[in-house]
Amino acid sequence: MEISGPRGTHDILPDESALWYYIETNLRQMAELYGYSEVRLPIFEHTELFERGVGDSTDIVQKEMYTFEDRGKRSLTLRPEGTASCARAFIEHKVYNQAQPTKWYYIGPMFRYDRPQAGRYRQFHQFGVEAFGSQDPNVDAEVIAILVRIVEKLGIKNAELHLNTVGCPDCRPLYRERLLQYLTPFAGELCNDCQQRLNKNPLRVLDCKTTHCREVVKDHPTLHSYLCERCGQHFEQVKSMLSSYKVDFVLDSQLVRGLDYYTRTAFELLIPDLGAQAAVGGGGRYDGLIEECGGPPTPGIGFAMGLERLLLAARKQASQAWKIPPVMEVFVAVADKEYDRDACLLLDRIRQAGIKADKDYLDRSLKAQMKYAGKNEARLVVVIGEDEIKNDCYILRDMKAKEQQDVPSSQIIDRIKSILVTS
Ligand code: HAM
Repeated sequence: MEISGPRGTHDILPDESALWYYIETNLRQMAELYGYSEVRLPIFEHTELFERGVGDSTDIVQKEMYTFEDRGKRSLTLRPEGTASCARAFIEHKVYNQAQPTKWYYIGPMFRYDRPQAGRYRQFHQFGVEAFGSQDPNVDAEVIAILVRIVEKLGIKNAELHLNTVGCPDCRPLYRERLLQYLTPFAGELCNDCQQRLNKNPLRVLDCKTTHCREVVKDHPTLHSYLCERCGQHFEQVKSMLSSYKVDFVLDSQLVRGLDYYTRTAFELLIPDLGAQAAVGGGGRYDGLIEECGGPPTPGIGFAMGLERLLLAARKQASQAWKIPPVMEVFVAVADKEYDRDACLLLDRIRQAGIKADKDYLDRSLKAQMKYAGKNEARLVVVIGEDEIKNDCYILRDMKAKEQQDVPSSQIIDRIKSILVTS
């Protein structure tokens, strides 16, 4: 039997899951601060949703989807991203009939069959936000600000926001033609992927990472001079609002993103410390997606961030900023095994009072129990021994202050609470 997990997946064991929990709690709080509510959507969808939503010329749809046929011969796909599923749910539940905008967030696993390396996995986790129903450039600026402020709040430095506009179906075709004219003479020099992209979606050649393709596009015409008036104004307002929020950005005319649904604003947050997989989050506006998926014309914008990458960056830079709560606040120790039952009953009282507590289950000596409590960062240890049972009291040891006192049994819970509250 194969005893290692499938390539590109990873286990999150308890000492690491505490960090995940901490980061996820921060993400939820931040999303809720900006008025977003959580949606929980299926892990798999009909394959057609991603073909239409994400776009069948994209790398994701062409090469990276985990697609399978179920027993009813339906083609299903493990979701490679969350935006298409949100669009599907928005349409299916006729959420467009409610007061707009609709502001949703999600956290969960995504699946892409790609070559695994540091920061790139086949099962990874995204936190994403999607705002449907408004074209207001202030929504673009707000969504971008959430991404930037999350990273700031986690104490991660040197993040670089890259910003671009990819225009709309009115102005992009003209630019596409112009770009194609520019690229065609170099067609033979492009990498295999870009040769295929050239006719399907030449804009994607702009963000190819191979050295030679980057050289070819060095002097490419930029979309900015082809933008229609409305797209131009929209972009100006997004930039102006971001500047007012004091959110720094780098204008990046090569940022086109790897999914087909984008219109107008496109952005990515890069953390150079992460090396080859530097994009910790990315997103943009997708004003045609809901219609493409069969709903009424509805604008939208959002982003998703990769939690593994966020964690890698946070671990490299900011571990001091984290306040991970210990697994136990109180440890109940016994001087002798015969007081075990008393320890269980006291433990029950402490837990019922809403305090995280535990005891030994391996017959450790008192000294070893104290060591175990210290290792688990218990703030307090209650010791039960012969004298304590006789006098109906406990020894309460404060592991931080390195002090101890006798406390009557009737007062133990209140005393524990008063110390924990001040810590
Ligand atoms: P994306 O750029 O494909 O956009 O992914 C967003 C983030 O997910 C990336 O910046 C990266 O941090 C993380 N990510 C992507 N693939 C992997 C992988 N194989 N391993 C680890 N992390 C990965 C989207 O998914 C869009 N749905 C974002 C969006 C939302 N646009 C509008 N709304």
